[in-house]
Amino acid sequence: MKYKVKDIKLADLGRKLIETEEPEMPGLMQTRTKYGPKKPLKGARIMGSLHMTVETAILIETLKELGADVRWASCNIFSTNDAAAAAIAKTGTPVFAWKGETVEEYWWCTKEAMTWPDGKGPDLIVDDGGDATLLIHKGLEAERRLAAVKESKVVKESKGIDSLKCPKDLKDFKDFKDIMGLGDLSAEETALYFTIFTTLKKSPHWFSEAAARVKGVSEETTTGVHRLYQLEAKGELLFPAVNVNDSVTKSKFDNIYGCRESLVDGIKRATDVMLAGKNAFVCGYGDVGKGCAESLRENHCRVRVSEVDPICALQACMAGFDVGTVEDALRWANLFVTTTGNVDIITAEHMAKMRDRTIVCNIGHFDDEIQVARLMSWPGVKRTNIKPQVDKFTFPDGHSIYLLAEGRLVNLGCATGHPGFVMSNSFTNQCLAQMKLWKERASAKPQVVRLPKELDEEVARLHLAACGAKLTKLTKRQADYIGVNVNGPFKPDYYRY
Ligand code: NAD
Ligand code: ADE
Repeated sequence: MKYKVKDIKLADLGRKLIETEEPEMPGLMQTRTKYGPKKPLKGARIMGSLHMTVETAILIETLKELGADVRWASCNIFSTNDAAAAAIAKTGTPVFAWKGETVEEYWWCTKEAMTWPDGKGPDLIVDDGGDATLLIHKGLEAERRLAAVKESKVVKESKGIDSLKCPKDLKDFKDFKDIMGLGDLSAEETALYFTIFTTLKKSPHWFSEAAARVKGVSEETTTGVHRLYQLEAKGELLFPAVNVNDSVTKSKFDNIYGCRESLVDGIKRATDVMLAGKNAFVCGYGDVGKGCAESLRENHCRVRVSEVDPICALQACMAGFDVGTVEDALRWANLFVTTTGNVDIITAEHMAKMRDRTIVCNIGHFDDEIQVARLMSWPGVKRTNIKPQVDKFTFPDGHSIYLLAEGRLVNLGCATGHPGFVMSNSFTNQCLAQMKLWKERASAKPQVVRLPKELDEEVARLHLAACGAKLTKLTKRQADYIGVNVNGPFKPDYYRY
C-alpha cells in the first residue's frame, strides 16, 4: 500500500499549513540550506514513528532534502493532523497515520511504515516514545523464542505441538500466545503482539533481518530514552541510539516551553473552560511539569504540584508553587494534569473521590499515568462521549469527571501539539542525529549517546536571529579566563541549564 491517511483531498489544506509554518522553523530551513546540497542522508531509508503533525511534515521534507528515503507513522493514535498527513502522502512519501486510529490500526501503521516495497526494513529510525524500537526488539525476541520452541523436544512433547513448523504453520494468535508464554495482555500489548504474529507468519525471519539492517535510532522523548537506557543496561540494545531528548535545546525547550503553550491549548479546545479562578494540580515537576505549572499560573489558576524528587519539589517551592499529594488535593482541585512519565499517578479510586466536574488529563508520553482501563470498568460508572477525545464519566454517587484524550497526550490529542518554533529546535537535533548515525554507520556500537555540545549550541544559534537576539562575543582574554574556547562550547558537560 502506498499510503493510508484519512482523506488525500486534505492535501492542499495541509500544504498551506506547512507553508505557513515553515518560516517558524528556522533551524530546519537552515539545515536544508546548509546540508541539502551534499545529500548526507543519500541512500538511507528512514522510518519515522513520531506524531504526524504539520511540524513533523517539515521535518520529513527536511530529511528528504538531505537525501533520505522516508516512510512515516504517528506515535499516538490521536495526534495526527490529517491535512499534514495527506500533504506528505501526496508528495509520494508513504504515510500511515490518521487521527483516531484504534490500537490495532496503530501497530499496523507502525509496521507498514517500517516495510519498504521490497519487503525489507529501514536503515534508520526516528522514534518518539520508543514504539518502533520496541516492535523490532519484541519481534526479534518472539522470532528467537519460536525458533527455540521448534528446537526444544521437551516443549514439543509436553505441548503436543511436534508437527508445528514454526512459525509459518501457527494456526492462530492464541497458538502464538501460548507458545510465547504470554499471559494476560493489555489491549495495547495484544495489538503489538498481534502485529508481530502476523509479520512472522508471513515472513519468519523479518525481525532478525530488520534488526541486522538498522544502523541506528534517534529518540525524541524522555520516556523513549528511559526505555533505551534500560535496554542498554540489560545488554539487549540491538543498534546505536542517539538520545535527542537530552540535548539542552530539546528537553529544556520543547518539554518546558512547548508544554507551556500546548497544554492550555489542549484543555481549552477540549473544554472551553475558564481557567482563571480554578484550582489546578500538576503531578510531577520535571521539565514538562515546570512548563505546565507555569502556564496554568499564567492563566490565573491556583496551582499545586506533586513530586517524589526532593530537588524538584524544592524547585517548585522556590517558584512559588504549593507541593502536596494527589490524595490531599482530591477535594480541592478542579483540574489534574499528569506529567511524570510514570504509571498509576491518578488511580480509579482517586477519580471516584474527585469533585464534581473535575477535568483530568495527561501530557506525559503514554496513557498509563491515569488508570483509564480501571476507570472504564469501575462498577456503575457511565461513560458519555461529549465529542471526540472528550468523555464524561459519571460515578454511581452522581459526581462526574471529564477525561481528555482517553488519558493520552492532551496537547496532541485535543490540540495540535507544540508550536513550530520550539519543534524546530527538537527537529534540528533529530536531523543532526540522523546524519551522525548514517555517517558513523560502519563503526558505531549499540549504545546510547548524546549529540556533542557544539551541535547543541549550534541549534540554539540557528534560532537566535528570529528572536532578534544579538550574541556577545568573548574576547580571547575573557575566554582564557573562564577556560573556554572563544567560539564555544561555552559550558562543561556537567553544567545544568
Ligand atoms: P522528567 O523526568 O523531567 O519529569 C518527570 C518528573 O516526574 C520527575 O521530576 C519525577 O521525579 C516526577 N515523578 C515521577 N514519579 C512521580 C510520582 N509518582 N509522583 C509525582 N512525581 C513523580 O521528564 P519530562 O521530560 O518532564 O517528561 C515527562 C513525560 O512527558 C515523559 O513521558 C515525556 O516523554 C513526556 N513528554 C511529553 C511531551 C508532550 O508534548 N506531550 C513533550 C515532552 C515530553
Ligand atoms: N510533540 C509535541 N508537539 C509536537 C508537534 N507539534 N509535532 C510533533 N511532535 C510534537
